Amino acid sequence: DAAGIPTARWERFDDRDAAREFVTRRGAPVVVKADGLAGGKGVVVAETEAEALAAVDALALPLVIEEVLAGEEVSFFALCDGTDAIPLGAAQDHKRLGTRDTGPNTGGMGAYAPLPWAPASLPGEVLDTVIQPAIDVLRRRGTPYRGLLYAGLSLTAAGVRVVEFNARFGDPETQVVLDRLATPLAGLLRAAAAGGLAGAPPPRWRPGAAVTVVIAAEGYPEAPVKGDRIEIQEFTEREGAYLLHAGTASGGREGTLVSAGGRVLNAVGTGEDLRAARAAAYEAAARVRMRGGWYRHDIAARAAGL
Ligand code: GLY
Repeated sequence: DAAGIPTARWERFDDRDAAREFVTRRGAPVVVKADGLAGGKGVVVAETEAEALAAVDALALPLVIEEVLAGEEVSFFALCDGTDAIPLGAAQDHKRLGTRDTGPNTGGMGAYAPLPWAPASLPGEVLDTVIQPAIDVLRRRGTPYRGLLYAGLSLTAAGVRVVEFNARFGDPETQVVLDRLATPLAGLLRAAAAGGLAGAPPPRWRPGAAVTVVIAAEGYPEAPVKGDRIEIQEFTEREGAYLLHAGTASGGREGTLVSAGGRVLNAVGTGEDLRAARAAAYEAAARVRMRGGWYRHDIAARAAGL
């Protein structure tokens, strides 16, 4: 609010009775949040008033209650040097565990870039209305921000709204964004660190699209099983289809691999458009054999017109 950045309308409560009264007056759907660290369990998107009241009773005070933002989600990356910022790509994540957006929220089960449905004006609009105001307010407060600023956005009917900020790259969106980046990242990071982003040549991008599919372990996200053996069948690495390791470890014997985290591997595919890129990604994913291994089958499907 201090920076005038568009976000959901919200109110903060130190008192449960006042929060309950607000929910009853305002109705559902509504978002109830614990205003503090909550181990990833501090946000309830309540579809009904009863769910909202239960969240008000369950979450730790203080609470924030805010409007639900309906619209396409975008993960927008910008590189900042404390004074200036440049856009570093946008991607869409698939946060639910199951195909067709079912099941619990995860850190992300797959992503794609670019966003064929997004207006060409989006990077400029987000830079002007979200990123630059954030950089300016932080600089004015004597805490200039240098690094990657990741805005989680909702493109609502009323315009762009910020859902969250992260002071880091996001995963799995980064895999597809960096795949498309033709300019060496190191030079951009150096310019961000040294304060020279305004004078740096704009990043160059490869044409085409990239899709990444996360291969998750059994039990992810609550209790991922670790130590399962992973076998990867040889595949012809047509240009731009490859596997990235995330939660893997050496199985002891030379060349053996085991799972060591919830999200184990990323199958990345690229192509001239999203259809070709997702076909390549799924081809790579199908080469992985892991007991209990799981991946969604609809990453980028809607955006690819499937
Ligand atoms: N994929 C979401 C995040 O990195 O926060």
